[in-house]
Amino acid sequence: MESAVDISPKNRSNHAQIERRRTFGIISHPDAGKTTLTEKLLLFGGAIQMAGSVKARKTGLHTISDWMAIEKERGISVTSSVMKFNYRDYEINLLDTPGHQDFSEDTYRVLTAVDSAVMVIDSVKGVEPQTRKLMEVCRMRNTPILTFINKLDREGMPPLDILADIEETLQIECAPMSWPVGMGKSFKGIYNLYRKEMALFKPGRDYPANDMITLHDVGDPLLDEMLGSQVDELRENVALLEEAASPFNLRDFLKGSQTPVFFGSAVNNFGVRELLDTFVEIAPAPLPRPTTTRMVSPGEDAFSGFVFKIQANMDPAHRDRLAFMRVCSGCFIRGMRVRHHRIGKDVLISNPIIFMAQERETVDRAWPGDIIGIHNHGTIKIGDTFSEKEPLKYIGIPNFAPEHFRRVRLKTALKSKQLQKGLVQLAEEGAVQLFRPVMESAFILGAVGILQFDVVIARLKAEYGVDAAYETVGYVAARWVGSDDKKRLADFEKMNRTNLALDLDGNLTYLAASEFRLERVVKEWPEITFMRTREHD
Ligand code: G4P
Repeated sequence: MESAVDISPKNRSNHAQIERRRTFGIISHPDAGKTTLTEKLLLFGGAIQMAGSVKARKTGLHTISDWMAIEKERGISVTSSVMKFNYRDYEINLLDTPGHQDFSEDTYRVLTAVDSAVMVIDSVKGVEPQTRKLMEVCRMRNTPILTFINKLDREGMPPLDILADIEETLQIECAPMSWPVGMGKSFKGIYNLYRKEMALFKPGRDYPANDMITLHDVGDPLLDEMLGSQVDELRENVALLEEAASPFNLRDFLKGSQTPVFFGSAVNNFGVRELLDTFVEIAPAPLPRPTTTRMVSPGEDAFSGFVFKIQANMDPAHRDRLAFMRVCSGCFIRGMRVRHHRIGKDVLISNPIIFMAQERETVDRAWPGDIIGIHNHGTIKIGDTFSEKEPLKYIGIPNFAPEHFRRVRLKTALKSKQLQKGLVQLAEEGAVQLFRPVMESAFILGAVGILQFDVVIARLKAEYGVDAAYETVGYVAARWVGSDDKKRLADFEKMNRTNLALDLDGNLTYLAASEFRLERVVKEWPEITFMRTREHD
């Protein structure tokens, strides 16, 4: 009799490789401490030896990927990257989600390639706008989220208020895993509510901070010695939490409806190991992913993956572009011939790259959850699926409605062909979105982050020899429109021509002059759907 489960040696080793992988991103508002936390995580993983390396990259002192003048000029990393490190028996892929001015569609799209996320909240500021936006993207796939409340060494909001803020603003239940004693000058440390351990805070300490004192329970007299008069505050809080706080529930966490909450101070490397230890244990291993035809499980034998990001000009001499592909099933083997379904061609991937924290290396094998970089000479688009045989198309790597708009103007009229070619290619690789208004001939560019516009101008010049500039244009939002009611859609088009445009793939888009106008139009046309995201063709 045939076994339903494939237990061939190949499959067994695939299974072990999948189970030990964790692929995640960190979401936060600028300055909450994402870079600092990343650095501490990499230190624990032994991926970097020195504090300051990631920070230095951010400030531009030592950019690993400083591929563009603009990046150097501004001292920021325009390109997000992937950092791989090992911790205990786990192989971790940390996908960088830029959160500063360089906030862009990439930031959103990176989150479509993770299985979980860590959310960093500044205890002084609570939930901030960018966190809210990123959370919306996580919600699209119910991504499980762990929360790290940072900067407890400063006077911040009372911890209970922060939890209430998260629950209210982000609509996710909080399950505190640890609880702080004091804050700022009176910050004494963190009590782990589940392990019943106390970690005492010593400012300025760096790697490794790991002295947990195991206690009988919160009534342990050892705590009186450690905390002095602040012990009462902790006992009261623990009693209150036992009554009122939601206990951690793995299933709710995995559904994305509950977030386990940790407190700490990233810069002091305090509370970080606890976060990481819990993260590897509870965060999901690579998950099944939907395609247009079926769910694909990571344990399947045949390789498949999708492209979620394209990074241009890594090597300006070759005009090379690197496509970042998430492996979703099977094992990727270097030199493999795989099918590029959108263009219907088989391609040989001979020198894929894997990203270590400090450098890139050629990779021989990659498993689900891993991100590999493949060289691209302009044929790969965001959202493209590659697989061994079966025609698949992964979904859930959408375009996000732009929030900023510019009209492109040529400085010299002669180059309009090159301009068009450049814009189309840049839009295809996801650097910016391109719209052709129904009523005018100039192109409108749309972006999620302002900096995308500067990148486009710089690249048009460097790669296409086109001198272009922008004019401001009075739009604040875009929505892809559609309807099953063809008559109403035709009416809508007739009545709103001045605000309609076609995107790169010819989809009808409504460009709104104000949020107010948008709301009104949505109300006036109930038969029309207005979409904030759109799947790639
Ligand atoms: P980001 O990537 O989310 O933008 O934040 P980043 O880690 O760069 O941290 C922003 C600022 O917050 C940095 O200060 C950093 O040192 C500080 N920070 C991070 N974690 C903590 C913490 O636990 N406690 C306190 N008090 N500060 C923290 P900066 O002044 O911008 O840079 P630097 O002078 O430290 O280099």
